[in-house]
Amino acid sequence: MAGRMLEGRTVVVTGGGRGIGRAHCLELARHGATVVVNDLGVGLGGDSVGESPAEEVVAVIEKRGGRAVADSTSVADWEGTGRLIARVVQEFGRLDGVVNNAGILRDGMITKLREEDLDQVLAVHLKGTFALTHHACAHWRSIAKNGASVTGRIVNTTSGTGLAGNVGQAAYGAAKAGIANLTLTTGMEMARYGVTANAVSPVAATRMTAGSVFKEHGADTPPDGWDPLAPENCSPVVAWLLSEQSGWLTGAVLRVEGGTVSRTRPWTVLDGHASADGRRLTAEEIDEGLRKAFGVFPGGIPSLTAR
Ligand SMILES: NC(=O)c1ccc[n+]([C@@H]2O[C@H](COP(=O)([O-])OP(=O)(O)OC[C@H]3O[C@@H](n4cnc5c(N)ncnc54)[C@H](O)[C@@H]3O)[C@@H](O)[C@H]2O)c1
Repeated sequence: MAGRMLEGRTVVVTGGGRGIGRAHCLELARHGATVVVNDLGVGLGGDSVGESPAEEVVAVIEKRGGRAVADSTSVADWEGTGRLIARVVQEFGRLDGVVNNAGILRDGMITKLREEDLDQVLAVHLKGTFALTHHACAHWRSIAKNGASVTGRIVNTTSGTGLAGNVGQAAYGAAKAGIANLTLTTGMEMARYGVTANAVSPVAATRMTAGSVFKEHGADTPPDGWDPLAPENCSPVVAWLLSEQSGWLTGAVLRVEGGTVSRTRPWTVLDGHASADGRRLTAEEIDEGLRKAFGVFPGGIPSLTAR
């Protein structure tokens, strides 16, 4: 049926109670998916605030005639995420996709971030994504080995910071870069079992970006209602990635900005310098060779030289 790309499929969306994840849940339910809305209901920095946004999203989906259940497992809980996947399989008889979207923000320069900030950011973003991916993929591998036909889908969430770096986001960027790489490896390892893994890099005005430059952009919403920074803009991409139709794409990181979806290129070997006879280069040869190869003239690049 047109507009129902996920009929009969059951998917988990982490951090589905707010912002981008909430938009995903509503869009996936509109496409006919049964949605497991996971959200711990924490504050922006991961602190407990006693909210239950997952239940609110489930209520909206049900009011619109869709099917959803709430879950409040922390994605950073390895055993808890294992129980979540087992619960989904037991309750709905199937698992078709996981959207790893939950996230927190603890910004700060590398000189200021505390061990606890690093631990929390890595735990929610990188370990959380890894944990659910591990448990979901183990399930799909085991049923594929028993002869079942699998069209499992992992959709991860990275960010511009994870792909290109950003001042003040050392921990967050490291976690998001790890997620991008995890996507590649998961895609490679799981292809043989009918499972794809892709990632999105969204741009949206949510509480996570409030106060940043995005807020000003959001205020420029044209009169026709189209907001290039609406959290909903990324959700159709996620719906498609979860569908059977997207089975030809794996290991991709898709940048989604407004109405544009673009493929990104992973770390790639570019130009360099090699010794003429294949032996190890000396530091002096490297200095001269790289300056020549990278087009750096005596005096260096002003912005990179120490002040
Ligand atoms: N907003 C943007 O422009 C932007 C850009 C790039 C990437 N992202 C990423 O998109 C995702 C969603 O961001 P958002 O802007 O909607 O943020 P948000 O703060 O509005 O939503 C994040 C949700 O994750 C939940 N959460 C946090 N820790 C959790 C845990 N341990 N277990 C389960 N749920 C947990 C929170 O309760 C919250 O509802 C994040 O991964 C973020 O890093 C956002």
